[in-house]
Amino acid sequence: MQTRDCRIAAWNLTSALVIAVSGLVLAAGLAHAQVKSAKPPRSVAAKPPSPQLQKELSEQTKIYQSRGEQVPSDYVTDRSLLSYSMTLLPEFDQSLAKLGPADRWLDVGAGQGRAILDYYGDRFDAMHAEGREQRGSKARSVALSIEDRRDARWHQTAANLEPGKIEYRFGKRIREYAPDELGRFKLATDVYGGFSYTAQLSNFMEKLLAMLEVNGSFYTVLIDVSPEHWTNRPATPRVNFQTEIINAAGAEVKVCAWLKRISCVEVSCEADARSTTPIERYRVKKVCDNTTVPALESTHFVAGTPPARQFQLIEPAPVAPVAK
Ligand SMILES: C[S@@+](CC[C@H](N)C(=O)[O-])C[C@H]1O[C@@H](n2cnc3c(N)ncnc32)[C@H](O)[C@@H]1O
Repeated sequence: MQTRDCRIAAWNLTSALVIAVSGLVLAAGLAHAQVKSAKPPRSVAAKPPSPQLQKELSEQTKIYQSRGEQVPSDYVTDRSLLSYSMTLLPEFDQSLAKLGPADRWLDVGAGQGRAILDYYGDRFDAMHAEGREQRGSKARSVALSIEDRRDARWHQTAANLEPGKIEYRFGKRIREYAPDELGRFKLATDVYGGFSYTAQLSNFMEKLLAMLEVNGSFYTVLIDVSPEHWTNRPATPRVNFQTEIINAAGAEVKVCAWLKRISCVEVSCEADARSTTPIERYRVKKVCDNTTVPALESTHFVAGTPPARQFQLIEPAPVAPVAK
C-alpha cells in the first residue's frame, strides 16, 4: 500500500453558519484527501494483469475486509446524507427529494449505508417540506458494498420500514451483477465508492448505465483528478493525479471528456471551488438506452483509500473501407 499524505481542503465559504455546518459535514467527506506519488511515466502500454497489479488488488481487498482497529482511518464508511448532498452536485438533493414510492435509488459503494438510512428519517422531510405529499412513503433503495458494513441501525431501520423498502447487497462488485439482478433505478449515487475504487472504470460505467432508467441520473465525485475547468489552478502545473486517463500516445484525457464520449448520456462536470485539492463532481444523465462506454484499460493501480489509478483509453480500430 502506498504512503498516505493527507491534505485537508481549504474552505472559502462566506457565512459563519455555512462554515460551521459544511465544515462538520465535509470533514468526513474530505478527510481522506490524499495525493499519491511515484506514478509511472505517461506512456504505459496496455498489458495483461501483472503480478504487481495482483499484489495491489489483494492489498485493496484487505482494506475492504478490515474490521475494528484495522480499518484505515481515512477509509470512511459512514458519511451522512447531508455529507452526500454537500459532496455531490446540488441537483442530487433535489432529485432525491422528488423520488416517489414507485422509484428506486441505488447507492454504489454504500459503506454502512448511512445516507440511505438518513433518507428515511424525519429530518429529511423536515428539510424538504416541499414535495412531501408526492414523496409519500419514499422510494425503494439498494445499498451496494463489496463488504458487509451494516450495523444495528441498518437492521433496526429495515425492520421498521415496509418489507423490501431498503436492501443491502454485498459480496460482489457492481460489474459482477447479472444484467437484471438488481433491476433498474431512477437515481444512482457513488460517494468515494466503486467509481473512485475500481480498477475497471469502463466496466463499472457500463454496468451502472445499464441499471439506470432512461432519464435517470448518476451523481458521483472524484478527488485529485484533472478537472475540466480549474477553479483553483495551482501555480506549478500538476503532472500526476490520483485518477487519470491517458491515450495511446500518453497524452492526458480528462475524466470529464471521457464521460462525454459515452453515447446516450448528458454529462455535467464541476470542480469543487471549496477545495484546494482538485475535486470534480459529475452528473451523468441517461437519455436513451443505447449507451456505449469508451473502453479503458488499467495501466497503474496502487491500493489505497482511494487507490491511485491510471487508465489507458482504448481507441477502436479504424474501419477498413469496403472494396467496391
Ligand atoms: C470509502 S467507502 C465509502 C462508503 C460510503 N459511500 C460513504 O461515503 O460513507 C467505499 C465503498 O465502496 C465499495 N466499493 C468499492 N468498489 C466497489 C465496486 N466496484 N462495486 C461496488 N462497491 C464498491 C466498498 O465496498 C465500500 O462500501
